[in-house]
Amino acid sequence: MSGTPSKNLAITFPQFDERELENVKACLESKWVTQGPFSAEFERRFADRHELNSALTTTSCTAALHLACLALELGPDDEVIVPAFTWITSANCAEYVGAKVVFADIDLETFNFDPEALKAAITPRTRAIVAVHLFGLAAPMDEILAITAERGIHVIEDAACAVGSTYRGKPVGGLGDIGCFSFHPRKVITTGEGGMVTTNDAELANRIGCLRNHGASQPPGPQSAPGRPYSMGAFETLGFNLRMSDIQAAVGVAQMDKLDGLLDQRRLRAERYTQLLTAREMNDLKPPTAPDGCGHSYQSYVVRLRVGGQLRRNQVMDCLADEGIQTRPGTHAVHRLGYYVNKYDIRAEDFPNAKTAEETTITLPIFPGMTDADQDRVVDSLRHALHKSGQAAA
Ligand SMILES: Cc1ncc(COP(=O)(O)O)c(C=O)c1O
Repeated sequence: MSGTPSKNLAITFPQFDERELENVKACLESKWVTQGPFSAEFERRFADRHELNSALTTTSCTAALHLACLALELGPDDEVIVPAFTWITSANCAEYVGAKVVFADIDLETFNFDPEALKAAITPRTRAIVAVHLFGLAAPMDEILAITAERGIHVIEDAACAVGSTYRGKPVGGLGDIGCFSFHPRKVITTGEGGMVTTNDAELANRIGCLRNHGASQPPGPQSAPGRPYSMGAFETLGFNLRMSDIQAAVGVAQMDKLDGLLDQRRLRAERYTQLLTAREMNDLKPPTAPDGCGHSYQSYVVRLRVGGQLRRNQVMDCLADEGIQTRPGTHAVHRLGYYVNKYDIRAEDFPNAKTAEETTITLPIFPGMTDADQDRVVDSLRHALHKSGQAAA
């Protein structure tokens, strides 16, 4: 696809067509808008696509992570290891249940856990780790599972960015105990806001279903077993309302129809970016890598400035913004955010790779439907910005 470049290039945007509109219309016309047939279909299709026994819709990936920590019964005596470079809720979920977050540094090549750092962070109190598949690249699960299995440590996969990503040919989300996905508009598929909790363990799935639904032992709605008219459920657990609506699930079902096409287009654009950056010898930038055996979703295409620090990175981003090209830093070094600094007295330098990643990464626009001309424009602008900022720094 070539064509005239779009005037303002957003970092990404959702892909909707008549299918979402038709499903939402059908949902509204049915007058059943809380969990119902579309939720059941979305869950079944998501589970099938990711080769999982159970998938449960929820209001966000943050809610999914919270449910995961509750279902695993993590609490104040427990430590949960989280990569220091990720979105804040990968860590917050442990704090929600009173557990202590322990950070481990990342590998700058992949932006995921450095297995050696993870091993070093383990203590007798470690009960779980959050394996983040950042930007859609699977975490080093072989190493992680080898470390955790022998110590009986639970693995929560934060697959917020990793719908459709694979590790050694297997979809992520069922490699650990519980997987958590996001359908925020910046993700591979979207329902506005929304998430999915996945597991192959029937008991965990039951517990999550109950916690998601006020602690009720029977879900309400058309999929419940027929009960007596006066039946109100048992409510033996302190639960929450973290249910996705059927209106959102109607959008999710339509998005599942196009998932493989969306992934193909993202991968194609990512490959082309890498080719362009290499062919034009833009060596100050390091393109993202996918180790052998990892099927990257390229939810985000994140480059790292190899030469120069945060100041130059910001100059480059400013130059692109002046040309109508939106970019964002990769994500946070969570150990530097106020809540964690204040609570745990952590220094920025304690996790140097996470600090470097926060200061030197740039997420470039990538979305299905992006044209060659759009991409050429981003790369031309980047080249110009690198040149300009390089001179300013000299
Ligand atoms: C790695 C990671 N985890 C969790 C989340 C939270 O997802 P949600 O916005 O659906 O709560 C995000 C969102 O950007 C994320 O990138």
